[in-house]
Amino acid sequence: MKAAVLRAFNQPLAIEEVEVPEPHAGEVLVKVVATGVCHSDLHVIKGDIQVPLPVVLGHEGAGIVEKVGPGVTTVSPGDHVVLAVLPSCGQCAPCVGGRPYICERSWPVIFSGTMMDGTRRLRNREGEELSHLFAQSSFAEYAVVTERSAVPIRKEAPLEKMAVLGCGATTGIGAVLNTARVEAGTRVAVVGCGGVGLSVILGAKLAGALQIIGVDISKRKLRIAQDFGATHTIDSSREDLVQRVQELTEGGADYVFECVGHPDLMSQSFDATRAGGKTVIVGAAPMGAKVSVDALSLLMEKTLVGTPAGSLRPAIDIPRYVNLYLEGKLELDRLVTCTYPLEKINEAFGAMQRGEVARSVIVYA
Ligand code: CU
Repeated sequence: MKAAVLRAFNQPLAIEEVEVPEPHAGEVLVKVVATGVCHSDLHVIKGDIQVPLPVVLGHEGAGIVEKVGPGVTTVSPGDHVVLAVLPSCGQCAPCVGGRPYICERSWPVIFSGTMMDGTRRLRNREGEELSHLFAQSSFAEYAVVTERSAVPIRKEAPLEKMAVLGCGATTGIGAVLNTARVEAGTRVAVVGCGGVGLSVILGAKLAGALQIIGVDISKRKLRIAQDFGATHTIDSSREDLVQRVQELTEGGADYVFECVGHPDLMSQSFDATRAGGKTVIVGAAPMGAKVSVDALSLLMEKTLVGTPAGSLRPAIDIPRYVNLYLEGKLELDRLVTCTYPLEKINEAFGAMQRGEVARSVIVYA
């Protein structure tokens, strides 16, 4: 099969021939139909997240089950599946408690280069082993994933659109519906209007928010945020974010979502949150970064909480989002603004870095 391989940080990905991997017990081999291009992949390319090289990136796939390993019961060959970004063990306390997104066994694994059982499944004809990312590696024509990460969906949903439910769209929508549990009639601010921020806007619309304020420094992104349903926008390169949110909401937003991953913006997001409100950190800060918040205003029952992948419970949330899409209530089509073949994957990352696309998706021939 063809796979996009990262051999050195800050270098373009190389399209190489790799052996089709074999699923072990509890794993599934999926013929990948489409996979989203995400900022987390870019973080690895830049070396901000260190994964043992060489590695096959990609963690937002959708495809068709080709083969299942021993003991797999929830999917069969031919099933259409979305590949959830975060694997989970199903046995640790968070998993048993219904929070597989903070699985104690998967987090140490996802950047270690291996699958959940500690082995690598990817190698080329010369026998060289390649690392996995998020135990998925969907920048390849086939991917092995754990059974719980391969979520069967209705066949009428187009896989090239559903790929974004593996990570990006799910992160934004889930931050609203699962993490913050935004209530109808409330005021929401979204700091950073890239693919994830736009998904927060889609989620806030679903939740029936009264006001949705998009914040960004790019005029183009603010225009797109309006198209997605932002009722107000703030250009934070010219206006004071906290002051403007407070003015527009008469005292602060009930929910503020930080989708950039910048500690200063996290503090400002907290300041822009009204008493009793929630600040939700969606963006990933650089390792070791600290956030400072106004201690006294914390007493006003303000909540500061983060979310990995929109508190995703794959088997519950992905079919739910697919249903909402098929009912016309979740406009994922607008999110996927560009598709590329695998051979052009470096162009997809270029367009992302220039901020030209909401979400681009690699579609396999
Ligand atoms: Cu991602």
